Amino acid sequence: MSNLIMTGGSKLCGIIEVPGAKNSVLPVLAATLLNNGTSILENCPELDDVLTMLEILSSLGCNVKKEGSRITIDASTLSGYSIPEVLAKRMRSSIIILGALLARCKEVVVSYPGGCEIGMRPIDMHLRALIQMGAEVDGINHGLLRCRAQKLTGCEILLDFPSVGATENIMLAACYAEGETIIRNAAKEPEIEDLQAFLQRMGIRVSGAGTGVMRIQGQSEIKAEPSHKIIPDRIVAGTYLAAAAACGGSLVVTGVEYDHIGSILYCLKRCGCRVKSYDGGVVALESTGQLRAIDLVRTSPYPGFPTDMQPQLVAMLSKCEGTSIVVETVFENRFRYTEQLMKLGADINIQGRTAIIRGVDRLQGAKLEARDLRGGAALVIAGLQAEGETIISGVNYIDRGYERMEQVLSSVGAQISRVEAEESE
Ligand code: EPZ
Repeated sequence: MSNLIMTGGSKLCGIIEVPGAKNSVLPVLAATLLNNGTSILENCPELDDVLTMLEILSSLGCNVKKEGSRITIDASTLSGYSIPEVLAKRMRSSIIILGALLARCKEVVVSYPGGCEIGMRPIDMHLRALIQMGAEVDGINHGLLRCRAQKLTGCEILLDFPSVGATENIMLAACYAEGETIIRNAAKEPEIEDLQAFLQRMGIRVSGAGTGVMRIQGQSEIKAEPSHKIIPDRIVAGTYLAAAAACGGSLVVTGVEYDHIGSILYCLKRCGCRVKSYDGGVVALESTGQLRAIDLVRTSPYPGFPTDMQPQLVAMLSKCEGTSIVVETVFENRFRYTEQLMKLGADINIQGRTAIIRGVDRLQGAKLEARDLRGGAALVIAGLQAEGETIISGVNYIDRGYERMEQVLSSVGAQISRVEAEESE
């Protein structure tokens, strides 16, 4: 167990290269299970969740090779359909394997993912859609979920909400279904477009990603040699830009897709930051560190402001001039990290799904505990603005979505390091 220790007050200046997106590589890795051949993925981030997914694929009989950010998966040797409980519990997104395994093996056993710090996170939409396609779901026995389908049949599915995970599961299951599957009210996130691009490289006829209506033509066999580069992580880019906006400085992020971070940049501009974009995926931000409050930001599915940036935004707004209001519409319980921000002296009032943030003049360093990934990133942003020393435990959560965050931030001037827990006690 390690802690992050930081002393706030430094401006952030320099260049950060943004790695591939966690929320893209995980479903694409799940999609490699559909291929009775070898898939090559480039620009994969080095994250704990990615390693867990690779362990899951190996446990199912795939040949997995990882060389830096390049991953090769040979799923022609796939032999199992049961995801070991210990691995499934480690990573909630193991549920995105459901559709792919069901499609390829006609059966899948996985432990029910359960709720987490940010909400209950049910999978009812995933299951309803698979049942509609012909799957039998054997209920939840001792927390285990068994799905079987001798045959999946393409059909028209309307999602109650544009769920990212449900859209991905249906897309993958539909690849081996008989006929066409249409998903209405599909998620429009860039990660869905990336999954579509990978499926197309495997020869699947799939279209509509980003429009809300998707069409997938099923096939009886998929045997291809796709090679695919994962899109940049828009949330990692947004997190470091928010940190620089809060601390002041001039930060350049490279390897980003400008449109993917449009709503984040819009908020940073509203706070008073100067933002410029250049060809080749480069965005430059300049901030005095004296930001204005934002009257109202609501999280919403893409292209709205992402829920995965809500905690980092709140941390940034905690020292702004004036009062900001942030409404979380996607997850019902995504403000728990604010208790930790208040230990630093932030003035945040939570009313249901609304956070009222009154900007304070100063934050004072304290001992904090990260309990989820983006909440953890928010604590780091707050700690970098605080006077004195802040110590953050629960770094394993942050490691699930950020490659060596302390190294990245210290390379642009932050005073932050990682120490083994005992050393910092
Ligand atoms: C994905 O989660 C991301 N995870 C999340 O990233 C992200 O916050 C979320 O999409 C929203 O953008 C991955 O891609 C691995 P949803 P997912 O299904 O697919 C409800 C991060 O920090 N819902 O779009 O699980 C659900 O409870 C994370 O990187 C149902 O009610 O999100 C939530 O309120 C965390 N029933 C809303 O829909 C269902 O069957 C959106 O969830 C499915 C979802």
